[in-house]
Amino acid sequence: MTWSDPDPGVGVFAVDSVDRLLRPFARVRLAHLPTPLDELRRLTRATDGPRLFMKRDDCTGLALGGNKARKLEFYFGQAQQQGADTVLITGAVQSNYVRMAAAAAAGLGMECHIQLEDRVADMDEVYRRSGNVLLNRILGASIHSYPQGEDEAGADRRLEEIAGELRSEGKRPYIIYLSADRPPLGALGYVNAAAEILSQLEEQRLVMDHIVIASGSSLSHSGLLVGLRVLGSRIPVTGVCVRRNATLQSERVGHCTRALENLLNLERAVVVPEDIRVYDKTFAPGYGRLNVAVIEAIRLLGGTEGILLDPVYTGKSMAGLLAMIRAKQFEKTRSVLFVHTGGTPALFAYESGLLQP
Ligand SMILES: Cc1ncc(COP(=O)(O)O)c(C=O)c1O
Repeated sequence: MTWSDPDPGVGVFAVDSVDRLLRPFARVRLAHLPTPLDELRRLTRATDGPRLFMKRDDCTGLALGGNKARKLEFYFGQAQQQGADTVLITGAVQSNYVRMAAAAAAGLGMECHIQLEDRVADMDEVYRRSGNVLLNRILGASIHSYPQGEDEAGADRRLEEIAGELRSEGKRPYIIYLSADRPPLGALGYVNAAAEILSQLEEQRLVMDHIVIASGSSLSHSGLLVGLRVLGSRIPVTGVCVRRNATLQSERVGHCTRALENLLNLERAVVVPEDIRVYDKTFAPGYGRLNVAVIEAIRLLGGTEGILLDPVYTGKSMAGLLAMIRAKQFEKTRSVLFVHTGGTPALFAYESGLLQP
């Protein structure tokens, strides 16, 4: 079913009314939008499965692009509304989020404190200094470290302590929290992306049968899902697990979609339990860890389409899509859209793993 022909009772808003939906939220324009939606003809031929398309959210701009640009528009909007002059954020050592927050802060004349969590054990020296870490330094961020990687509440508490110290120096800090207990402001960026995708499908006269996206904090996945449903589209969305297994990730998506429905003040839920689809067969051995399928996916996209994926998110989510194609989960007559969420700077940090024969 196409978006312009919504299920009765499901389509609640017209696509252009997404502006009305997002109007209550302060927003700073950071991303280059709309990002392209392109067909991947050579990859389709190479995989001999459904017709493949890519939403190029690696092209959002903001110091080398990625999904976080869309999310940061709303956090920095709120920060500026609150009169903040300093932003604090936490993430893995090779986090794209913190790199892009550092870029946004620099461009808006704000100070940025980033906290790097030790989330991936036993990584080499290149991982600790190249890729996003190098970019954070160039972007002028103050860097802090946090010794754990699986303690979202603890990482947030540490940010609050740093914010307290900054306040005592006369600064006005704003924290971008990691924990799922906070309102999912960043997911609004992917409600907007859903509207953008639906408009592009209409312009290009395409019908998409499935969308595949990396699912980590799940704010992109959840925002996209709520956005599509609120706009009347029933396109199924599969989130490929990059951070935790399928059981935990579906709980997270369920929690975030409900929190987003509340944030948007919807009269009723638009996401039903069957909408929450996650895939974790390409997740092992864990967050930020390469596997053979990821390396193959990165090389395949580079070699067939000239498109760079990343080792942590899009390499893994593309590996998931390729595995689903091989398992014949999509008929050849169908069309599938892969959301490229960015992350390419981390390629340089994973040099030793990626160059393995
Ligand atoms: C490049 C990239 N893709 C995907 C994701 C996952 O997005 P989300 O955290 O919204 O699930 C991230 C988040 O860290 C990312 O940096």
